[in-house]
Amino acid sequence: MDLRFSEEQEMMRKMVRDFAQTEITPFIERMEEHDEFPREILNKMAELGLMGIVIPEEYGGAGMDYTSYIIAINELSRVSATVGVILSVHTSVCTNPILFFGTEEQKKKYVTKLASGEYLGAFALTEPNAGSDAASLKTRAVKDGDVYVLNGSKIFITNGGEADVYIVFAVTDPDKGSKGISAFIVEKGTPGFIIGKNEKKMGLHGSRTVQLSFEDCKVPAENLLGQEGEGFKIAMSNLEAGRIGIAAQSLGIAEAALEAAVAYAKERQQFGKPIALQQGIGFKLADMATAVEAARLLVYRAANLKSNGIPCAQEASMAKLFASRTAMEVATEAVQVFGGYGYTKEYPVERYFRDAKICEIYEGTSEIQRIVISRKLIAD
Ligand code: CAA
Repeated sequence: MDLRFSEEQEMMRKMVRDFAQTEITPFIERMEEHDEFPREILNKMAELGLMGIVIPEEYGGAGMDYTSYIIAINELSRVSATVGVILSVHTSVCTNPILFFGTEEQKKKYVTKLASGEYLGAFALTEPNAGSDAASLKTRAVKDGDVYVLNGSKIFITNGGEADVYIVFAVTDPDKGSKGISAFIVEKGTPGFIIGKNEKKMGLHGSRTVQLSFEDCKVPAENLLGQEGEGFKIAMSNLEAGRIGIAAQSLGIAEAALEAAVAYAKERQQFGKPIALQQGIGFKLADMATAVEAARLLVYRAANLKSNGIPCAQEASMAKLFASRTAMEVATEAVQVFGGYGYTKEYPVERYFRDAKICEIYEGTSEIQRIVISRKLIAD
């Protein structure tokens, strides 16, 4: 078992790390203080080919493996979890569903522009009364000649308003439960597709989390993704890999928090020596580093399975469950190491703490990950 990155993957890691440090770091304040969407950063990422890392070259992507993509999310998130999640949603749950389930026309029309970064993508599954119970969604799509007419609303849509293309899930047959859900590619600007309020959030400042509504929104029938009734499968199968992305985002936050805590603990003197040499802090750092290492192994193990086309729903959920908990715990401890300074905005650890929390919630809460893991255990 070789746990080292390949030469190509190592180049990706170095390139994204340099990019994040030089380009994203100066932008953090604009996101944090003004909630500015990092459009400039995304444009630069597009120039580097980062908006289509796993997309085959024939559709305008870089044609790299899933692990390389996960490395990019990991490295971006060490500097900005906001940029990490924007890329994760764009790729895992918008571009990939079209790549895997779309017709050749849909791929040529949408995947190429998503991969180049000309378009930004979003994924619209969650509704006010359908969060963890995703199959209970109520948005309706009724076929009328050569269009589907959509009515309903969505909430908490990452990249909403900024995205050009949305994968929207709606009920086409209310009698069939999860098998009555279909997926549609909906373009921003379609009449009746209304971008609503952007939520003010605890963390991930600069990212968009919006409400969407559909009022007699006519979507061309050719924009049905996959077959009628295949929507839930499309959502679940892409969330499966998407969860590795959120696990990588969590890992990035945890690594950043650990690094900041170690640097501070070596510098800060109390009782005549650096606090890192006080056992209470030294042991804390040791536990944080051990958890980060374990999370890293789970994340890259799941990524490796995915890269090799091996089913990995359980491993993806385990990686997300563990890495998001690690991000929260390590960020909490990092604030503790910094003491009173950690509670101020002078240091980044309070941002890591706020950003970590959402990783235990979106793309399936920790409780949902446990459902996925335990069902697999019982089924085997
Ligand atoms: N791949 C393919 N098919 C799948 C699948 C997968 N990974 N998981 C389930 N399915 C299929 C099942 O096989 C089943 O079909 P059959 O009856 O033919 O076998 C069908 O889908 C229904 O599956 P379940 O019976 O398991 O469905 P359920 O209602 O019990 O729900 C659940 C399962 C795991 C709880 C699911 O509802 C879930 O994942 N909920 C969480 C929702 C979620 O993650 N939302 C994220 C929103 S997006 C987001 O957060 C993005 C962001 O902003 C960052």
